[in-house]
Amino acid sequence: MANITNVELSAATPSKKPRTDDPPVKNKALNAALAASTKANPPRPKEIHRLDYAPLRYKVTKVSLDFNLFERRTVVESILTVEKIDTPDSVTTAEDAKEAKNDVEDGLYLDGDEGVVALNELSVDGCDTLVLGVDYILKPGKLIIKAETLRRGACNNPDGNMIVRSSVEIVPEDNTQLSGLYKDGSMYCSQCEAEGFRRITYYPDRPDNMATFEKVRIEADADSFPVLLSNGNLNEEGEVKGSEGKRKFAIWHDPFPKPSYLFALVAGDLGSIEGTFTTMSGREVILRFYSEHKNAGKLNYALESLKRAMKWDEETFGLEYDLDLFNVVAVESFNMGAMENKSLNVFNTSCVLTDPVTSTDAEYFRVEGIIGHEYFHNWTGNRVTCRDWFQLTLKEGLTVFRDQQFSGQINNCAAITRIQNVLIVRGSQFQEDDGPMSHPIRPNSYIAMDNFYTSTVYRKGAEVVRMYETILGTEGFRKGMDCYFLRHDGCAVTCDDFLAAMADANGVDLSQFARWYSTSGTPVVTYSSTFNQEKGLYQLTLSQSSRSEEPLLIPVAVGLLDKETGREVTPTRVLQLRESVQTFDFADLKGDVVPSILRNFSAPVKIVHASGLVDESYLAFLATWDTDGFNRWDSAQSLYAAAILKVINHEAHDASLDRVLKTFGQTLKDVGISDDSIRAFTLTLPSESTLSKAVNIIDPPAILKARNYVKQRIARTFKYDLQLAYKRLTAAIDADGVTFKVDGASVGRRRLRNVYLGYLCTICETGEEQKESATLATEHFNAATGMTDKLAAFSILASMSGEGSIAREAAVEKFYKDANSDPLVLNKWFSVQADANLPDVLDRVKKLASSHPDFSLRNPNRCRALITTFAMNAAAFHDEEGRGYEFLGDMLEQIDKINSKVAARTTASCLIGWKKYSETRATLMKKQLQRLKDMPNVSNDLLEIVTKGLE
Ligand code: BES
Ligand code: ZN
Repeated sequence: MANITNVELSAATPSKKPRTDDPPVKNKALNAALAASTKANPPRPKEIHRLDYAPLRYKVTKVSLDFNLFERRTVVESILTVEKIDTPDSVTTAEDAKEAKNDVEDGLYLDGDEGVVALNELSVDGCDTLVLGVDYILKPGKLIIKAETLRRGACNNPDGNMIVRSSVEIVPEDNTQLSGLYKDGSMYCSQCEAEGFRRITYYPDRPDNMATFEKVRIEADADSFPVLLSNGNLNEEGEVKGSEGKRKFAIWHDPFPKPSYLFALVAGDLGSIEGTFTTMSGREVILRFYSEHKNAGKLNYALESLKRAMKWDEETFGLEYDLDLFNVVAVESFNMGAMENKSLNVFNTSCVLTDPVTSTDAEYFRVEGIIGHEYFHNWTGNRVTCRDWFQLTLKEGLTVFRDQQFSGQINNCAAITRIQNVLIVRGSQFQEDDGPMSHPIRPNSYIAMDNFYTSTVYRKGAEVVRMYETILGTEGFRKGMDCYFLRHDGCAVTCDDFLAAMADANGVDLSQFARWYSTSGTPVVTYSSTFNQEKGLYQLTLSQSSRSEEPLLIPVAVGLLDKETGREVTPTRVLQLRESVQTFDFADLKGDVVPSILRNFSAPVKIVHASGLVDESYLAFLATWDTDGFNRWDSAQSLYAAAILKVINHEAHDASLDRVLKTFGQTLKDVGISDDSIRAFTLTLPSESTLSKAVNIIDPPAILKARNYVKQRIARTFKYDLQLAYKRLTAAIDADGVTFKVDGASVGRRRLRNVYLGYLCTICETGEEQKESATLATEHFNAATGMTDKLAAFSILASMSGEGSIAREAAVEKFYKDANSDPLVLNKWFSVQADANLPDVLDRVKKLASSHPDFSLRNPNRCRALITTFAMNAAAFHDEEGRGYEFLGDMLEQIDKINSKVAARTTASCLIGWKKYSETRATLMKKQLQRLKDMPNVSNDLLEIVTKGLE
């Protein structure tokens, strides 16, 4: 390194490489004073606004990184090639101009977290020793190299290049945030999205700086870290000559320019499996999956899923993989599910490992979907990325849509997949829209970006992409996608660019549709209709209300059924609702009709009749006759909900309950239903959380009680049929043999049999009944050949009391023993107990949290399994005295110090919805929010949520 400013620094110079046994460098880092002052006096959190976006004035075009991994000390050297962007009026909006004015310094802005990155050396080729305050500036989170310094460097260099070099030190072992470079057990791994790269080194850590990572060199102890991975292709690998102790290096090169958030590094002693995929143009790609040695046998399903995803993307969108190598690494400690780093995806073990004995069907399905998701990002996210983080839905909404289509299509289960996804939109997304964190899919501001990986950005974002497809048709959508890639490959773009590609490729004006990007809240569509017998004319009037000042463009898919026969007389038509109120004509009808509206959930809206009333006979009609699988299921759900709500509100409910029983009985016996999964979903009552959306003030124990009451009534009415159906399915499963299969038919049978089991076991009022259901569940538990059945039985047993208590405790013990320390099974063990319906569940959870040797707040999976699951166990969490809230507050206080991103997420999903609860509960919930807000050193992540939560 040419210029060293501060010290006789020799530790990181090529002549004398640091060694494991070297004493830690004692010299003060260049940013040490800043680090001390920001630690003593944390800067006030800053709100970032979308409209303040200003393009880069200096851009890093090429990067070379050198990682030297030692125990408790990692040295990162970087060489950045910097280019001046010559766009004098790159400032485009009034807000940009304002920002530019505030921006006193013209120069290269590098982000770096001085709290974790110690800057030891900094130089610019062609310049003398850089002087702080003269040649460069250090501010909280930033290092600015002045324009004048860069110019000086350029004119002193033979080729006129601007080269910035730095050497920093980090301690991955101390990184409990799991953002940046950290240790997961004995392996190193990284997580850079959204702003983790600045916790590794100083760099323009924003997605619009796409650079080629020319060379990433990793060096580490050869015995402990034989596998050294980064993005792109492996250029060279070998032993470090002349090193003391056996050290190994690897050099990676990624030919595709990428933003820093897609950078990844992994080093460890890992097992792996390998496969290949030949792309449509005939290139052979090596697919390699890594994990701890003991888990390498659980990677096969993910590998096969990846091949299916690669094929599907070629067939559906003509998108081919672009490198010769695709790596996936499984890590135990991970904040999210998985991450799409270019050619080096990193997965939470819970989202990639499968095993016939320890994984449920739902987990197999999830692994496949998330493998697809991260793979699909290679085009929607990596090749074309986001200009700034406000555009996150550009890659996430689109990629969620793609993974949903993939999952539904390759498993031939489009209806079931749709039902599951709509449940999530209506559950978590509508809830978010209804609370203090409500925001448009393209938010306008944030304090901590990590708080905006929300259900709105993801799930509603995916619904918005789906609406393009509904409006433009499959072919039109494909044309739009082709145009998007043709225009923007290799670029960092905006949601507006995506919309423009869709519009231009189809020659349509989508300016009205653009309002979906800026409108928060859930729109409501109201309908009413008339029928003119003489003219055979049916008129459907739709009106909309939303937080948008101008009306949205809402695609409403409608079909008509004959009122007499129930037959479909008008197949699905997509109505484009563009006005506040609009009437649509259906002519040439022979008789009166019943409308099936918002088929397949064609828009993320609530739909209500103009009267505001729920017409149960209408729902019963659709539940029987609708040809749209989604709406048939949905109508049955609404019918069940109507009855349960009447029970909650102490209204007369006999007629409603009769309808429920009739619909349930029909569904149970309908020979026309050939898909067991469909039958299972249609026989399942709406969840407590779904029901809570339909009441004014949520009283969780009352909802649980009412739901159980209706469930029991159903179970008692159909006890005999349910027993028979259960036995029949058991026989069918037995006859199918012992080989574990996860095809649609096998999954469907298990799903349905477990629904039957659930009903049969709710009959447990008397001691005799309690014994009977405990026996049945225990048999199911013991006979289970896979985790789906075992977990279903365990969940039921975990809530048993009275005469069922012994069976419950036996199951808790056996499940733990069978887990045999497998972390993913232990997570299930913790979460089933946290989710139990028992009067003393809080005490049990407290005990597990405080004294169980397998519990730890440090591992996000384990923390979520116990703490988040408990907070989602509404009846238990919302204890009237606030003991549940207080416990959560205690935990969050500790979690925030370890991992603020996990703390913020848990708070956002569990504690900020107090407005929906009674005053007593609301007050107690707010008390905990206030307590967290007042906590000394509360993180910015958590502070943003609690502040919004208290508003
Ligand atoms: N890019 C995200 C992962 C991510 C988000 C990492 C935020 C760090 C911060 C990834 O593509 C993703 O969306 N993962 C989802 C799963 C997916 C199937 C929706 C996740 O991790 O939950
Ligand atoms: Zn994603």
